[in-house]
Amino acid sequence: MPALVLLGAQWGDEGKGKATDLLGGSVDYVVRYQGGNNAGHTVVVGDQKYALHLLPSGILSPGCTPVIGNGVVVDPSVLLSELSGLNERGVDTSKLLLSGNAHIITPYNVTMDKVTERFLGKRKIGTTGRGIGPTYADKINRVGIRVQDLYDESILTQKVEAALDVKNQVLTKLFNRRAIAVDQVVEELLAYADKLAPYVSDTVLVLNQALEEDKVVLFEGGQGTLLDIDHGTYPFVTSSNPTAGGACTGAGVGPTKISRVIGILKAYTTRVGAGPFPTELFDEDGEALRRIGGERGVTTGRDRRCGWFDAVIARYATRVNGLTDFFLTKLDVLTGWEQIPVCVAYEIDGKRVEELPYSQTDFHHAKPVYEMLPGWNEDISKAKSFGDLPKNAQAYVKALEEMSGAPISAIGVGPGRDETIEINSFL
Ligand code: GDP
Ligand code: IMO
Ligand code: MG
Repeated sequence: MPALVLLGAQWGDEGKGKATDLLGGSVDYVVRYQGGNNAGHTVVVGDQKYALHLLPSGILSPGCTPVIGNGVVVDPSVLLSELSGLNERGVDTSKLLLSGNAHIITPYNVTMDKVTERFLGKRKIGTTGRGIGPTYADKINRVGIRVQDLYDESILTQKVEAALDVKNQVLTKLFNRRAIAVDQVVEELLAYADKLAPYVSDTVLVLNQALEEDKVVLFEGGQGTLLDIDHGTYPFVTSSNPTAGGACTGAGVGPTKISRVIGILKAYTTRVGAGPFPTELFDEDGEALRRIGGERGVTTGRDRRCGWFDAVIARYATRVNGLTDFFLTKLDVLTGWEQIPVCVAYEIDGKRVEELPYSQTDFHHAKPVYEMLPGWNEDISKAKSFGDLPKNAQAYVKALEEMSGAPISAIGVGPGRDETIEINSFL
């Protein structure tokens, strides 16, 4: 019963899409378990580049069944346009399975996301504006709409009525917006029902049966550990659990089934949206990381904030996820620096702190304590084995491994499928 979780160890955009796609050819199922189309996962196959938002990256591997689990929030228009976009490029998407229990991002959830952010002004989270937070809020508040509701018009109407009851008051009285008509929403949602019907299934049953039959299941996280609603830099987080436990609740698979948890770790750090980021750079080094690393959001096109590697965060990710391995990505981007600073601890109010402080105030005050590691100039993009890397690049990887608390089992040296050094096999 080999079930693997692959998740972001930092603030997202670590290269999860590439890593998932790489394993996709050897696994039977790839499952998204949380988040929605706030994610932007890039996969490069040969000269083709794909940007996936809602579909699991396994969709590009013909032998693999892609699954959208119950923990995901689904915008039907985005899902259908992503499917047709892939079909136009010759990708077979017919195997997709969509949980009937997944919640739907309705048009009013998208509206609420946007108006709330505007209302927050300079205190805004910097969300992707895709309706993620309000949809999860409705789910927890028990006024959410699920995929299965599209197949019972009467229930759907009652649920949309319940959801809009309070929201329309807020929209009209607080945000000075027009009320949203129940009929219009119901009509729009019902129009998706037939188109989604071929994919809707009992994904919990399918996945558990697959595991009993010794099939290999890979869970692909969206976002990252520090964006987790419980374990991230709250309130500057997303509204779901990208951490390993989220794979269990978001797919209906028990923790005893998970055999490996792989943290995707960028060789430096990036973040999109607001919130604390101790190693953030505001100088030409930050600009160079952004330029060389192509650090621009796949979903919103926003420039990503860039900074040096933060080992405190990596250690934290190891702990809260029970990581068994790291997949280190974008090592090639660091080529050309004479020395590379790595944050080994924080200084908070004059004291050295080795672990991530639980207090938000302390984290906001954290200043990075850097250790300088020697850089390299050789092109590493063609390296196929660890031994092919220049000595200083090897030492950088070894130092990160020691500081981060789990073995680095693969190294990305370029965006392509084959631009990867495998050290320990994942399967
Ligand atoms: P995700 O959200 O975690 O899937 O990551 P994104 O796709 O948002 O951002 C990662 C970016 O880095 C994408 O443009 C990838 O094609 C690219 N990428 C992934 N791994 C590597 C690598 O090892 N080297 C380089 N240069 N680029 C990489
Ligand atoms: P992938 O899967 C990076 C960030 C947003 C914002 C916060 C909340 O590509 O790594 P939300 O719309 O989720 O309510 O926004 O979370 N965020 C991401 N940052 N990568 C992502 O996904 C993200 N998904 C959400 O920028 O700060
Ligand atoms: Mg991304």
